[in-house]
Amino acid sequence: MASVSYTDHEGTTRTLESSPGETVMSLAKRNGVPGIIGDCGGVLSCATCHVFVADDDLQMLEPVSDLEDEMLDGTAVDREPSSRLSCQLHPEKLPRDLHVTTPSMQE
Ligand code: FES
Repeated sequence: MASVSYTDHEGTTRTLESSPGETVMSLAKRNGVPGIIGDCGGVLSCATCHVFVADDDLQMLEPVSDLEDEMLDGTAVDREPSSRLSCQLHPEKLPRDLHVTTPSMQE
């Protein structure tokens, strides 16, 4: 089991334990984390699961795929170097816990 900490744009943090096979998006949705919508269910066609990954955690993630990179250009809040789509992040595959910040809005 791995944990993910979600900090919203106002600074409130919630830490959740993931189940096998879950993504950072599905874990957030299952627990009602505000700021992550995940309209497309994780098939890289909505960009409503946009998050900012903590700088210290970026190097342990798989690289951004071409399609994720393309979708990140359509986020409601402008992308930053730490931007990822949370449906592409699998907590159980990471060597340690992950911390992300959710944007002020998704659409
Ligand atoms: S849930 Fe739609 S792109 Fe991530």
